[in-house]
Amino acid sequence: MPKPVKIEAIVPAAGLGVRLKTAVAKPFVRIDDCAIIIRALRVLSRNAAISKIIVLAHNKNLAKVRRLIEADGLSKVKCVRRGGKTRRDSVAAGLKLLDKDTDFVLIHDAARPFVTGEIISRVVSGAQDCGACIAGVPLKPTIKSIKYPRMLRGRQVSPDASGQASIEKKNIFVDKTLDRRNIWEIQTPQVFRRDLIIKAHNKFKNLDATDDAYLVEKLGYKVRVCEGSYFNIKITTPEDLVFAEVIAKRVKPACRQAGIKR
Ligand code: CTP
Ligand code: MG
Repeated sequence: MPKPVKIEAIVPAAGLGVRLKTAVAKPFVRIDDCAIIIRALRVLSRNAAISKIIVLAHNKNLAKVRRLIEADGLSKVKCVRRGGKTRRDSVAAGLKLLDKDTDFVLIHDAARPFVTGEIISRVVSGAQDCGACIAGVPLKPTIKSIKYPRMLRGRQVSPDASGQASIEKKNIFVDKTLDRRNIWEIQTPQVFRRDLIIKAHNKFKNLDATDDAYLVEKLGYKVRVCEGSYFNIKITTPEDLVFAEVIAKRVKPACRQAGIKR
């Protein structure tokens, strides 16, 4: 009989949530009275395919994260450790804590509380087929690349109201319009064969990557994209909290009906 496939999850939650501008750290911000990190962890915990969950948190939040996880009875979370300076570093810290006999690694941002079992199943099954699979959704808006003035090039441009005002003064022009049909917005979860993701992280230690698939792509490996969900938003800026409250209310009745704590 073939050995069952073993999948462990890594949840990076060690960011500072600077763009969210909330008084409490992002993982603890409550949506419909449940902390963002707990929402995401509940979904992963419920998933029978995942055997263990590793959480990376900011040093100053470690105790609080551990407390919330324990209070919620999330027993699949076996380690809560200190993350790194960047998201990449946090995931790398998690990779070191995997069991040696793990076949696949699922990486999911704590900042995406609306992941579902269906999305996880699709990504896991895609990775079992071809080694690397990530969730995404086709882009809806028109997308143009922008030519920034020299002084703004390569900088993060703040999307908030005060940022807008300063951008307008800086002569920003369209570079070109991109073909939206070929562009997807990429989400987590992302699932990889264990050897592949470890190799990618080891090889590109200094690459500034906002997701793990980028490192696997850089290895020259083909990454499959499967359907995520437009509800699987990443909580990043204050507006996202408004959308999140609406999404939470929408998923609540379905969860209640299925006897799921959400
Ligand atoms: N993350 C992490 N370690 C870091 C930075 C980010 O584990 N050093 C995690 C975040 O906690 C989040 C995910 O990576 O779950 C995606 O990052 P992002 O949405 O950018 O969150 P923050 O980095 O917290 O937010 P910001 O960039 O606005 O500070
Ligand atoms: Mg960040």
